Amino acid sequence: MLTQEQRDQYRRDGYIVLPDFKAPDEIARLRARAEAIVDAFDPAESRAVFTTRDQENVSDAWFLGSDNTVRCFFEEEAFDSHGQLKQAKALSINKIGHAMHDLDPVFEAFTRDAKLAAVARDLGLERPQVWQSMYIFKQPGIGGEVRWHQDATFFDSTPISVTTFWFALEDATVDNGCLWVEPGGHRGPLRERFLRDGQRITMEKLDTTPWPDEGVAAPVECKAGSLVCFHGLLPHYSAPNRSAVSRHAFTLHATDARSAYSPRNWIQRDASFAARGFD
Ligand code: FE2
Repeated sequence: MLTQEQRDQYRRDGYIVLPDFKAPDEIARLRARAEAIVDAFDPAESRAVFTTRDQENVSDAWFLGSDNTVRCFFEEEAFDSHGQLKQAKALSINKIGHAMHDLDPVFEAFTRDAKLAAVARDLGLERPQVWQSMYIFKQPGIGGEVRWHQDATFFDSTPISVTTFWFALEDATVDNGCLWVEPGGHRGPLRERFLRDGQRITMEKLDTTPWPDEGVAAPVECKAGSLVCFHGLLPHYSAPNRSAVSRHAFTLHATDARSAYSPRNWIQRDASFAARGFD
């Protein structure tokens, strides 16, 4: 599936972009399904927002209970000072997470894709296990920033094997909050670990290496249908979306079953709901 050049590029930069990976009809089906999930979501169930600031404190029961279910999270800026939504519900949701790839047939069909299985294999995931899916809306005007981080913080294993599959469902640009990465930064250390102990989350500091500064960060602008694959140690972030257009994306996080998945990661599965690969 991947050329030698693409594999070399992944090894060197920590990421690759594969344009036209998903067809417009596959994207349309996923978007329609996400819209239906949001439509069915009753905001009275939870007003939980998703933010990457102060993650220890905002990791509430709604978030922790989304590990192996399908739940919606609001944009941090969705509400006014009276706690009322400032815009329609459909334009207020930050993301849906985190187990649609196993629980929803449309998301499952998007995830279980022979082409994707081949890419994962080429990137070194011999026995992939997909732990998490997220549908990210990055809403117009209020789409929240995602601060610098490494995905291995959330999916630690020995050795580190987590790989991210990031699908652009709309064109991602600097204006609407595309991904930014530190090319080659996957050769640096893991800075922190997101640990779960029952209903409690702590962020453990492992290394004081600073996050890259602006001059080093590279924007990953790409067209709808592109797949961005990146290494679990690659530092990345995305800016707030202040533009008038959304930037929908879908992400999957997979480790290799040959590595030892940390029992302290926030998502755990038992034999009755085992993590599966892309087949
Ligand atoms: Fe990430």
